[in-house]
Amino acid sequence: MTERILIFDTTLRDGEQSPGYSMNTKEKLELARQLMRLGVDMMEAGFPIASQDDFEAVRAIARAVRGGPIVAGLARAKDVDIDRAWEALMHAERPRIHTFIATSEIHIKYKLKSTQEEVLEATVAAVKRAKGYTEDVEFSAEDAHRTDQDYLCRVIEAAIKAGATTINIPDTVGYGLPWEFGDRIRDLMNRVPGIERVIVSAHCHNDLGLAVANSLEAVRAGARQVECTVNGIGERAGNAALEEIVMAVRTRKDFMRFDTSIRTEEIYRTSKLLQSITGVSVQPNKAIVGANAFAHEAGIHQHGVLQTPLTYEIMTPESVGVSRSQLVLGKHSGRHAFKKRLEELGLALEEEELNKAFVRFKALCDRKKEVFDEDLLALVEGELTLADRGYVLEHLQFTSGTNIIPTATVRLRYNDEAFQESGCGDGPVDAAYKAIDLISKIPGRLLEYNLRAITGGKDAVGDVTVVIEADGKRLVGRGSSTDVIEASVRAYLNAVNKLVASQGDGKRAETDGR
Ligand code: KIV
Ligand code: ZN
Repeated sequence: MTERILIFDTTLRDGEQSPGYSMNTKEKLELARQLMRLGVDMMEAGFPIASQDDFEAVRAIARAVRGGPIVAGLARAKDVDIDRAWEALMHAERPRIHTFIATSEIHIKYKLKSTQEEVLEATVAAVKRAKGYTEDVEFSAEDAHRTDQDYLCRVIEAAIKAGATTINIPDTVGYGLPWEFGDRIRDLMNRVPGIERVIVSAHCHNDLGLAVANSLEAVRAGARQVECTVNGIGERAGNAALEEIVMAVRTRKDFMRFDTSIRTEEIYRTSKLLQSITGVSVQPNKAIVGANAFAHEAGIHQHGVLQTPLTYEIMTPESVGVSRSQLVLGKHSGRHAFKKRLEELGLALEEEELNKAFVRFKALCDRKKEVFDEDLLALVEGELTLADRGYVLEHLQFTSGTNIIPTATVRLRYNDEAFQESGCGDGPVDAAYKAIDLISKIPGRLLEYNLRAITGGKDAVGDVTVVIEADGKRLVGRGSSTDVIEASVRAYLNAVNKLVASQGDGKRAETDGR
């Protein structure tokens, strides 16, 4: 009989807390909605005590998620943390408080400056307090894999007696080897009284590149929940990658009699959405979601795949939501066909978003003969990640060449006013960014710039992601166009607009409009 492995996604907590991956509440909500479509069993929405922003995000997600996953909030084994977590989670349909404390000798001695007995007491008190708020309580023994096994058994037994319903065993520093981590879980399953009443979970970090292997070994040893992140993002080398665990379980059903609730066709889109929100791309050879994961360059491979895909493909691209590029729409396609195709791609847009996206689609058709699914996704994701308020590009003109100083003139609309400025720079992109800075009065420092062609061909759409620092904040912007300078300008404006939106009142800095 096939048993179910519960997928606990912690992209919004363990993933988001690592440098370069921070998201604002709107972005977290967007990702949370996609995680629902993906079909995760639980999503850890954040660490409410960590900051006001974290608290707001967990509360917003708790309110928004309906008819699906459990929403978890993290709390140290402290009353204030647990109370705050509950405040954020109380409106969730299915709330879970996830409380943790470190149990390894090194953590107890140097980080907590405490003793084993005190940690044991704090565990019981924390679980009981959380239990006072909700039935669903998860307890994690941080750095469990480097914890003395006898002591770990005592802590877990106490947590179960206090009411924990899920016991999580983290390999916090990614130190474990697969068979070693599996043996540890197996031993706990055999030794801890009451463990058969709870779900045992594995939470593996990837410092030695073994997070997925360790998680699978944990499952083999009796764990029935795995904690993971989209694209494997997370502290240092990251967490176990959700897509790799899910596809390993599905592809090797002959060896693992398990399944998950994940709609695998949503995997690629979820991965892309995360990349577009954070501005951090996965490496091309990343398993399952990397650009090369289904590319067959070598002639002998291509030949084999054309004959019978199974020669070199152990899973189909379609099974994870990667479409073999197909021509879908063109110049003569109407709004209805456009809407229908988006729905087929899983994108249900609000009326206003749809109208804006359709205008961009028509403009794209004027410049590009063939429009592929990937083009549509880029075009629409651009709309979805667009800030609510801010500057709209009306006009862009630039000159550049080998022996002239590159200059750019940009005209932007802000509400009903138009603003125009010119700038010179090292190149047309630099010149255009300077002109935008003059208009917005928000000097942004460009930290990262990435350009990629979405599909093949000389008329391919260029997709630009920028990371800028402005007003003490790190902002990610994305833009696409068949013209790479325009895509660059759109990406920069997208980032500037996020800052404008976060400043709340929607007012632009004082300047003379023209
Ligand atoms: O890695 C870890 O130990 C954690 C816990 C808080 C579960 O993230
Ligand atoms: Zn972790």
